[in-house]
Amino acid sequence: LELRLFDIIVSTNNYLLSQLKRNALIKDSTSVAVAEFQTNGRGREGRVWRCGFGNGLLFSICWRFEKGVSNLSGLSLVVGIAILRVLRSYAIQNINIKWPNDILCNFHKLAGILIEIRGEVCGPSYAIIGIGINFNLSKSIIPLINQRATDLSSVTGDLINRNQVLGRLLSELYNVLDEFAYYGFSSFKKEWISYHSYEGCEVDLIFPNGLAITGIVDGVTDDGAICLLTLEGKKSFNIGNIAIR
Ligand code: BTN
Repeated sequence: LELRLFDIIVSTNNYLLSQLKRNALIKDSTSVAVAEFQTNGRGREGRVWRCGFGNGLLFSICWRFEKGVSNLSGLSLVVGIAILRVLRSYAIQNINIKWPNDILCNFHKLAGILIEIRGEVCGPSYAIIGIGINFNLSKSIIPLINQRATDLSSVTGDLINRNQVLGRLLSELYNVLDEFAYYGFSSFKKEWISYHSYEGCEVDLIFPNGLAITGIVDGVTDDGAICLLTLEGKKSFNIGNIAIR
């Protein structure tokens, strides 16, 4: 494991992406970049990820995989499982996942995952897996976050040791990524569904073009696509944002 620590950085994902491009990551080792603050923390779908200095656990890991790894859409769900397992090891209740990989507590965002894939024409591919967990957001930042957000100190009433969470999370990530590389997502499916806050709920799935489909959430496929019972029967989708009806 190669751990690089920063006080301030643009984005830990950007950092590992640029190091990868320059061939500056140690081969055969997992590289991890951790920062106290990001000047351009990025979220999914071009969103901004805001977190004050020292108020969160912000890190990325570079995971090398062979092209053969089955379907990568399950990858982000598997990373969500690692986070849930670790947070549950602190006996924190009410933490759930919103498909595909928002980590919520009482329907407020607690943590997020941003995965970016890079490949070589011949040879291995890499997933830069970025994780942000809110620990103790400052009052001034909450209004700047464009969704309902929460943090671990409000959820637990306690200050949890960030270093310890990072350690547990890295070892859990190794476990799940190894298993995912061998068996794909299907062996995680049951556990993932047990964490999904919207299972059995009637929802709208809103697509990037603004169109939406309504249905009742009925699990996920072996590839991690969301299943909806719609008026036209059971359908599965790889993209979209869930909104409760
Ligand atoms: C999301 O929920 O939209 C994903 C948020 C991911 C945020 C983390 S913080 C560490 C890493 N670096 C980034 O720029 N983003 C991810």
